[in-house]
Amino acid sequence: MAAANETVELTRHGDVALIVMQNPPVNALGFALREGVMRALDAVARDAALRAVVLAGSARAFSAGADIGEFGLPPRAPSLRDLIAVIEDFDKPVVAALRGIALGGGLELALACHARIAWPDARVGLPEIRLGLLPGAGGTQRLPRLAGVARALEIILSGDMVPAARARQDGIVDALIEGAFPEAALAYAATAVRGPRVRDRDARLAEAKADPDLIARAAAPLLRRARDGLAARACVEAVRAAVTRPFAEGDAEELRLFLERRASPESQAQRHAFFAEREVAKVAGLGPEIAPRPVRRAVVVGAGTMGGGIAMCFADAGIPVTVIEIGAEALERGRARIAANYETSVRRGSLDAAESARRLALIAGALDFAPVAEADIVIEAAFEEMPIKKQVFAELDRHARPGTVLATNTSYLNVDEIAAGTSRPGDVLGMHFFSPANVMKLLEVVRGAATAAPALATALAVGRAIGKVPVVVGVCHGFVGNRMLARRSEQTERLLLEGALPQDVDRALTDFGFRMGPCAMGDLAGLDVGWRIRKAMGLRAPVSDALCEAGRFGQKTGSGYYLYQGREAVPDPDVAALIERVSAAEGITRRGIGQDEILERLIYPMIDEGASILEEGIAARPGDIDVIWIYGYNWPVWRGGPMWYGAQVGLARVRDRLAALAAATGDGQLRPSAALQRAAAGP
Ligand code: CAA
Repeated sequence: MAAANETVELTRHGDVALIVMQNPPVNALGFALREGVMRALDAVARDAALRAVVLAGSARAFSAGADIGEFGLPPRAPSLRDLIAVIEDFDKPVVAALRGIALGGGLELALACHARIAWPDARVGLPEIRLGLLPGAGGTQRLPRLAGVARALEIILSGDMVPAARARQDGIVDALIEGAFPEAALAYAATAVRGPRVRDRDARLAEAKADPDLIARAAAPLLRRARDGLAARACVEAVRAAVTRPFAEGDAEELRLFLERRASPESQAQRHAFFAEREVAKVAGLGPEIAPRPVRRAVVVGAGTMGGGIAMCFADAGIPVTVIEIGAEALERGRARIAANYETSVRRGSLDAAESARRLALIAGALDFAPVAEADIVIEAAFEEMPIKKQVFAELDRHARPGTVLATNTSYLNVDEIAAGTSRPGDVLGMHFFSPANVMKLLEVVRGAATAAPALATALAVGRAIGKVPVVVGVCHGFVGNRMLARRSEQTERLLLEGALPQDVDRALTDFGFRMGPCAMGDLAGLDVGWRIRKAMGLRAPVSDALCEAGRFGQKTGSGYYLYQGREAVPDPDVAALIERVSAAEGITRRGIGQDEILERLIYPMIDEGASILEEGIAARPGDIDVIWIYGYNWPVWRGGPMWYGAQVGLARVRDRLAALAAATGDGQLRPSAALQRAAAGP
């Protein structure tokens, strides 16, 4: 037994060397690991008694790839490319033994080995595109030589993981192994001969060499789906170089493109988002000693769109759930809506009929609160009115066992007030889902003043179990996401009144990278919802109110800010006329408003609100706010989230622009808050 260094172990088994990478949790290829493998290889090279090598990782991970945390630091030799060069030219066969994940640079390391064997649980992939990158250690050159060009493009541009069995079919893996580790790997290596290097195996490139359009054809549908077009196009260019140039030149082109992407703001933003998503799991006051309670059974109160979507989340995760409604008709409508949603998935081919039936069978209905007694968690998704919430929670308090988590899906209401109406405020919190609840990944978990740590830990664990990204937020009107959204909505209304049209406002955001602007979004969600709330609260939004008064509720009525031909939104001259009338009635002289001003007025007030949210401790970190906007509101991930974007623009500039815009428009809502002023001034 010998340690090459603290992260790599080298052992000898007859004439086979076993090099095991041990850099928990996922064998990220940081400096120490690279150096350790290099040293181990050096020792093997000098030992004439050794004739083959097994390179392995842990059961969880062969390797998750380059250490993303090192990307901002000066490079330290040996680089991953140095290591790959040594392995590829090693004069004894090196066999990569894949267990768990082999991703990014981890797979690229394996591709440089002379053979790859995999256990059934292994999964390989090149997820770099999700970080705004392309594989940077030969992946775009070697993978097409093993899997063929079209399949390599699919793997590289999707970033998806490929299970071992499929990787075997694709030619990425040479053999599937059933036996015990490391014995089976050592036995395989003992008979291994050093075949041709992957870089010299050009047979699978032949088809693409003969058909110059193959790459464009294979890439087209993948490019359409890519969220970061620049990274996606760079991936395609690198694969093209693999086909059209000798290996060394193609490899150099890949490196050039990789370094360009790595330095790009788009990739920096996505790396920030990657780490921010992992940081949100770290919650003050929730150490490993706070165990989440087991959740075997759930109840959802309310069979509306939201309640139904939440019930589907549980069923999709295999957790039995009962939906409670007051009337049989409403319950039946809810059940039918859920069934229809599953049917759509079956029709689209994303779910098979048997699985759909299994999930439906996990969802029961009830017309009274009796099932609450059996539940480990209850999520209330009833009407958004405090008296109704209080009534429901009184019932929950009466029926639930001690220790059951009682959650409200309120979007705005005060969770502390709801909790105070029960005898167990420690078990009450908010679980704010985003519509459609079975699709959107964000879950705001609202921690009340009295919420106890085990209840919070349970809500977070349940959130993860049902595939969400839970972010802990504090109590305030609208929590984090909707509180910031309100600032954007306010400006949408103002911009329309002052001179912009819906298509102008929306274009500023779609050009920025959003899939939809606020007007199209409003039409999708239904304008009548906000209208009713405003009426109840005695508030006005003159343009939106006028649209609703004209019966234009959005897509569901075929018209809103736009006219709908099917689902296609078309600018409507009637809306332009309506908006001009409303402006005139409000005594506003309309003016042309440039796209830059529109964008600043939509985004900067959100950043301003974010500064207050942070100062008040409603969100723990700027990255938490970014995760909320990326997963709940489709903020373009390559823009990193509103707070990341604000930091790139510079908070001082955001402050100054808001002050200037406030002065120019006379709109006090644009004035920078005290919190933003303090944040911009720095520590
Ligand atoms: N670099 C640095 N840290 C990493 C990492 C990496 N490549 N991959 C994971 N980690 C860290 C995470 O930040 C996390 O740290 P904390 O516990 O401190 O928060 C820890 O490892 C565990 O990760 P997860 O919580 O995400 O665990 P998981 O089991 O849910 O997922 C995973 C594991 C699938 C590997 C996931 O972490 C992942 O997708 N990682 C990124 C993989 C990737 O993109 N690799 C390509 C890197 S770029 C590259 O390799 C370029 C090149 O060509 C040279």
